[in-house]
Amino acid sequence: MTTPLRLGIAGLGTVGIGVVKIVRQHAALLKARTGRDIVITAISARNRDKDRGVSMSGYAWEDDPVALATRDDVDVYVEVMGGTDGPAKVSTQAALAAGKDVVTANKAMLAIHGQALAEQAEAAGRVIRYEAAVAGGIPVIKALSEGLAGNEITRVMGVMNGTCNYILTRMEKAGLSYQEAFAEADGLGYVEADPTLDVGGIDAGHKLTLLSAIAFGTKPDFDGMELEGIERVSIDDIRAAADMGYRIKLLGVAQRTGRGLEQRMQPCLVPANSPLGQLEGGTNMVVIEGDAVEQIVLRGPGAGEGPTASAVMGDVCDIARGLRLPTFGQPAHTLETATRARSQLPAPFYLRMELMDKPGALAKIATILGNSGISIDRMRQYDHDGTNAPVLIVTHKTSRAALDDALAAMETTDVISTAPVALRIEHL
Ligand code: NDP
Ligand code: HSE
Repeated sequence: MTTPLRLGIAGLGTVGIGVVKIVRQHAALLKARTGRDIVITAISARNRDKDRGVSMSGYAWEDDPVALATRDDVDVYVEVMGGTDGPAKVSTQAALAAGKDVVTANKAMLAIHGQALAEQAEAAGRVIRYEAAVAGGIPVIKALSEGLAGNEITRVMGVMNGTCNYILTRMEKAGLSYQEAFAEADGLGYVEADPTLDVGGIDAGHKLTLLSAIAFGTKPDFDGMELEGIERVSIDDIRAAADMGYRIKLLGVAQRTGRGLEQRMQPCLVPANSPLGQLEGGTNMVVIEGDAVEQIVLRGPGAGEGPTASAVMGDVCDIARGLRLPTFGQPAHTLETATRARSQLPAPFYLRMELMDKPGALAKIATILGNSGISIDRMRQYDHDGTNAPVLIVTHKTSRAALDDALAAMETTDVISTAPVALRIEHL
């Protein structure tokens, strides 16, 4: 007769309550699939008296997550509180030290402290699982570390933040203001406790950091990522991009270049008719390219109670079945320190600027681009009031360095009324 697998859950918010519901609703199914009863023995949150819409009777309560993580009747510590440091990190360390396996949805903690935690877990013979941390309900960690283990991975890219994709989609499709779209995303449970993590691109950057570590066998290197959020994307850019056949997405790309590992998370234009361009709302998409498999595209809900709890439970089931893998797909001490390479590979760029309506203004801009070796692919000038002319330019492929030189030179002219917006164009 097998023993039950006993969970201690710290955090009873969107994700934690989703986990409680699945454990209750699917008790028989979970046992049939894993051969063990999966039960919750203890829980923790900040406010014991909060109505969480689900009865919490029958579970022992701990005010302190560390006390929860180290209880004798807990086999797996489920950390779904969040936070890079503080209680999440301390309790995870305590759980590993006490001989518990850990399941977490916390990409912020792992992107920053993942290497140290992975080393601690391995030294203790425990596992850390975090499927929910990247792309919500999409089993992308499993795909990369297990299903694609026979490939040399060449590129990982994707849209991995539901909040940003929701905001951009709703602004474009429903004509909502940024604030209105943000409020809707919040209501759906997508938004982080600190929303700047979402709109600043940091949350998506954390996720890409974790994928990159698995894909390229490197230590998680969040500080090596070029990062830009969606705060500067305006409705004008969304409309202008659409006019040129593109949509704007907060897109992450990690790839090996001749000079090292390029990791970037930034708003990009993607063709409107591409799989990434057709992505709507809180949906995430991850594209993985490997030498043998060529390309796979994974798509699904990237946030919210059900999808995230689904991913947590997938990890719990693996532990119940006895599957034990290193945190980043290979032993932590074998992960290399990544050599950082900033935007090495050339790409076309979208430029939007307002030019003063005077003779030679456009010629000056074209000359600056030409002097930087940048060729214009397409150009459009919109109706205006006779003072400032909105101009769009799509360049042929160029390096980011050449573009930065050109943008700096434009700033010194007397023909620009507002600083140009420059966004990379990515083709799948
Ligand atoms: P919520 O804000 O909804 O819930 C957080 C929970 O943690 C609350 O129950 C809170 O208690 C509890 N908590 C916070 N601090 C402490 C503490 N010091 N001690 C004990 N309990 C504490 O967050 P989410 O459920 O949305 O997110 C949880 C984690 O999952 C985060 O790491 C997040 O990044 C990640 N995640 C979230 C997704 C989502 O769609 N929401 C998707 C993927 C990952 P109380 O309720 O009493 O205030
Ligand atoms: N805030 C995150 C998002 C939650 O919007 O994608 C899922 O990780």
